[in-house]
This record gives sequence, C-alpha cells and structure tokens, in this order.
Amino acid sequence: MTTDSTQRTRVLTGITTTGTPHLGNYVGAIRPTVQASRNKATQGFYFLADYHALIKCDDPARIQRSTLEIAASWMAAGLDPDGVMFYRQSDIPEIPELTWLLTCVTGKGMLNRAHAYKASVDKNNAAGNDPDADVTAGLFMYPVLMGADILMFKAHKVPVGRDQIQHIEMARDMASSFNHLYGEHLVLPEAVIEESVALLPGLDGRKMSKSYDNTIPLFSSSAQLKKLISGIVTDSRAPGEAKDTEGSALFQIYQAFASAEETNTLAKAYADGIGWGDAKQILFERIDREVAPMRAKYEELINNPATVDALLLKGAAKARELATPFIKELRHAVGLRSLASAATTQTGTKTSRAASPAFKQYREKDGQFYFKLVDPQGRVLLQSLGFASPKDAGMAIAQLQQDDAKAMAALGQQVGLGDGVSAANVAEALATLRTELAEKAKGKE
Ligand code: TRP
Repeated sequence: MTTDSTQRTRVLTGITTTGTPHLGNYVGAIRPTVQASRNKATQGFYFLADYHALIKCDDPARIQRSTLEIAASWMAAGLDPDGVMFYRQSDIPEIPELTWLLTCVTGKGMLNRAHAYKASVDKNNAAGNDPDADVTAGLFMYPVLMGADILMFKAHKVPVGRDQIQHIEMARDMASSFNHLYGEHLVLPEAVIEESVALLPGLDGRKMSKSYDNTIPLFSSSAQLKKLISGIVTDSRAPGEAKDTEGSALFQIYQAFASAEETNTLAKAYADGIGWGDAKQILFERIDREVAPMRAKYEELINNPATVDALLLKGAAKARELATPFIKELRHAVGLRSLASAATTQTGTKTSRAASPAFKQYREKDGQFYFKLVDPQGRVLLQSLGFASPKDAGMAIAQLQQDDAKAMAALGQQVGLGDGVSAANVAEALATLRTELAEKAKGKE
C-alpha cells in the first residue's frame, strides 16, 4: 500500500544549535523553510542539528539555550509542528546508528577533501603546525553525520546554503555506494539552493555571521533592534547627496524584507539623497513590522521550555515511526540480522535469484564501471560500455528499470543487446524484475 507520505516529495533541512538566531538565519533558513512547509505537495522534515553542534561548541549551556531559541524561532515564524516532522536530531538514535553504516562505505579520501576539514588543514600547514592540529574526528566526520540526517528520511530535496552543496554531493555518494553494495535502499538527495535568498550582510557589511560578531538577533526588543540598526556601516555622504544602493549593507538588508515596490521606493530615495538616519528608520520600521507579530509567540515559548521539549519529543516519536523500521531494514541489508533469519534468507535469495534476471555491476581493469543484465540461466541480455563512475552506471540501471524502451533509446550505444537477444527478451526480463521489486517493497511496508 502506498501512503500519501511515501508519494510526496520529502524536503529536509536542519539548523546547527550553536547560537542565537539572527536576521541572516531568518532570511536564509527559517523564513524559506516555513514558507516551504505550507506546500501540501511536499512533506517537510525540519530539525535541530544538536549532534552537529557538539562539533563546533563545547559549552553545554549554550547548546541547550540555542536549541530552545532556534526551536522557538521556527515556531514563532509560523512552522506548524503538526504539519511537518519537527524534531531534535539527538532524539533519533537511528541517526548515529546510520552514521556508522555510512562511515563504513565512505572513502576517507572523500572526507579529506571536505571544504571545512581542508580549510583547517590548510590553516595548520600555513602556520607550520601538524596538519591535523586541533582537528577533531568529529569535524572530519561532519559530512557523514549530515549524510545520515538526510538519508535516514529518504529526503529528495535539501534546501541549504551554497557552502553546504558539497555535503549533499557527499551524501549522494554515500547513498550510491551503499546501494551498490547492499541493494537499492537509500534515496539520492538533491541540494536546493534558493537563488532569490541573498546572503544577508551584517552590521559591518561582511556576511552576517556569528563568527564575525556582526549579527542582529532576530528576536530582541524593538528598542534594541533600532539601536543595532543605527550601527550599520554606511559611507560618509551627507543628507542631500545621492547614495549608491550597490554595496550598501543597509539597502541589501532592506531588500530581504521589503516588496519589490518598497525596494524601488527606497532606491529612488537613495538617488534623491535620503539621509542615513532616515534610511535606517525606514529599515527599522520594515523589519519590526515583520518581526513584531512573532515576538509574543517567541517569548511565550522561550518562557515555557517544557512545552517545547514536549513538542520536540512528539515530533521525534513521529519521525521514528519512519526511522525505526528503516534502520531495521538497513541493518538486515548489511548482515546485522538474526542468525536464524540469515540462514533462511540466504536460501530464500538463492532460489529466488536463480529464477530471476539480475543486473550485475562491476569494474574493469580500465578503471571504468560496467553493468550487464543476465537472465536466470546466466545468459547476457544487455551489456553496457564503460561508465566514468558507479553513480552513472547506477543511474542507467535505474532508467532501464523505470522505462526500458525510453532508456534504451536514451542510452544509445552505451548499452547493447547480448548475442541473439531481442528487445522483447529484455523487456520481458525487466518486467519480471519490476514485479519483483514491487513485491519486495510491499513486503517491507
Ligand atoms: N550543516 C548544516 C549547516 O551548518 C546543518 C545541517 C546538519 C543540515 N544536518 C543537515 C542541513 C542536514 C541540511 C540537511 O547549515
């Protein structure tokens, strides 16, 4: 039986719980995810990445506080915990369990090339230190934990900032390695980059970031918001002089909150020589208009942490309804299974394998990746030429399994019929395979 939730596109993203949410987090992550969560055609998974927080922060009180603040911000901004999966990463023990399974199919060399790890190594090298000085294994393993977050819930789309694209690519890599070894269990995710979401500049004009200490908290009093906005850097042009919108942090922040029409009006005011004090007042009023209605809800949640705890636990229970059976399936796939069931399954697969066609993937001495489709008697029905990566080969197989006629046309010379084999033989074999896969999937539900 296919349920609604298995049909919908699954969108998943997390926020690391190391700090107090600022306007950059709001514009870049919180607001777009809340908007996306209202799309009924998708199923949202939004979580607090507190295991990831441990990699960057060793202050327990800060992690606890940040988890509360981010959860409250998300809900104050309109995330409906009943309409989505909303949970805390560390409430899902299946995630660290999956992390280990993925660790065992992840090349160490790939992790060596992760940007964050490489940046630390480069810094150490430049300073003449040991390359791994002050690098924890946690930092090194960051992408694997993130892969587990994503693959655990078979997410299709992962909205992230540009700096995270490499991590999604790594998650895809882990998924295809796992599938290659153990069968098609994991879904290959895709990064979603919101082109329209600009990087918000901070008070000093650089990207708004806690590490630059240039942030404006999302939730502070009106008075404090006003005071912080008055500290945004501007040039020294006097009132009456025309101002440049380009490179103006104030203008860019305004743009992230205002409509196109409002933005045009401010651009015109810049050209007409608006004074910086007046421009700051306009910015303050615009942001406050959006944030003020959320403040009461935020305060209420912050002052009732037990309520937030309960909501998150409820969310985790809901998420684990998916995670618990899935990790069981994955454990079974890799051989962590009842010794009795292993014996029966073994004979079971052997007989069923003997009766069904199968794709075989392999690597040749030329370093390329190949596959063939063989019938139960071992006759080659299809033979591929070399693919550059196992992922490419896997994708061709997936295409064939989905729609062989279309795939054969699309793959052209890359896949050929075996000796004395007709297209009808192939179609028949793939139909058998498809029925089997469908039955297997049914058995899992
Ligand atoms: N690494 C992400 C960040 O720093 C946070 C994160 C953790 C995440 N796990 C994730 C994002 C899974 C998307 C999906 O922004």
